[in-house]
Amino acid sequence: MKGLLLAGGRGTRLRPLTFTGNKHMLPVANRPILYWGLDHLREAGIEEVGIVLGPLREGIEAGVGDGSTFGLKVTYIQQGEPKGLAHAILCSRDFLGDDPFLMYLGDNMLEHGLRPYVERFARGDASAVVGAVPVRDASHYGVVELGSKDQIVSIEEKPSSPKSDLALIGAYLFSPEVHDVVRGLQPSSRGELEITDAIRGLEERTHRVRVLHLDGWWKDTGRPEDLLEANERVLASRPRSFFVASGHVDPAAHVSGHVGLAAGAVIGPGCTVRGPAVLGEGVRIEEGAYVGPYTSIGKGSVVRRAEIERSILMEEVQVDVGLRIIDSILGRGCRVVERERTPRGAAFVMGDAGKVVLPSPRD
Ligand code: G1P
Repeated sequence: MKGLLLAGGRGTRLRPLTFTGNKHMLPVANRPILYWGLDHLREAGIEEVGIVLGPLREGIEAGVGDGSTFGLKVTYIQQGEPKGLAHAILCSRDFLGDDPFLMYLGDNMLEHGLRPYVERFARGDASAVVGAVPVRDASHYGVVELGSKDQIVSIEEKPSSPKSDLALIGAYLFSPEVHDVVRGLQPSSRGELEITDAIRGLEERTHRVRVLHLDGWWKDTGRPEDLLEANERVLASRPRSFFVASGHVDPAAHVSGHVGLAAGAVIGPGCTVRGPAVLGEGVRIEEGAYVGPYTSIGKGSVVRRAEIERSILMEEVQVDVGLRIIDSILGRGCRVVERERTPRGAAFVMGDAGKVVLPSPRD
């Protein structure tokens, strides 16, 4: 069985974070989301993975290489313009050959990984295995309606009036029978070859599409708030061994819970760090700063004085301000500092589609 990891797409809902880079390389617990996907594929027993690349691809090939650091053999497949998930299958036809394959969207994260798909497929009675979970607003997803024996009654892409609350997860296991169906697909009204149309077509043809009801959490990291939630959940569920402590903790610092401290990271005197949290290489926490749970701080960043909780700071970020910062994402090289001259006031230098939420004067 082969793996297909999709890393095309423009990530428009994650702007401004995706103006300059690929959404699949945004960090969750200080590792690109895509790397978690590679781990899941390997843990499901897959050895050969095709990564499907779209127009924004910086860093992917440099970071993943031939896949050997992930215990995988990785091939890169060019999708060019992203024209839908089923289009990605079409572009991967040569790589996939006649093997069954597990396709995983590079921005999805599943708590329990992909093994349940492989186990279900191994029973030998499925032309595809798809996963579903109940969600509050299914209209943002592919939606599947099931009959009394879990057979698919309807399947629609982002319907305005969903027929059920069951969202289709971004992981799909297909037998090679799907290629015939994909070849016959027509673009949807939004101009894409929809994966939901492929699944419906395959079910009509084989009546052997199986639906897994997955427990554990699932996150499609499409929006900034999803990235924060994924970061929280991943940090909360990592075993102690994930939090290596190579850095230095001053004897007069207070550290509790699981805190990962990469080489050269320093927690200074009078500072407090409460895990789960990860501090990348060379990160410095200084001048009484506080770092609270569910925070990931990227390589080379410095935090002075501030309190930071449930946030993602990417690489080389500088925070030097007497402010409490929560639920925030600061991109590479961002600086949050104090103004040292008059006139007094807050000064912003923000890229397109940035967002600043200030504490209400009532707080
Ligand atoms: C895609 C699929 C959708 C699925 C979702 C899961 O949507 O088209 O059926 O429910 O992934 O993440 P996208 O998020 O790419 O718009």
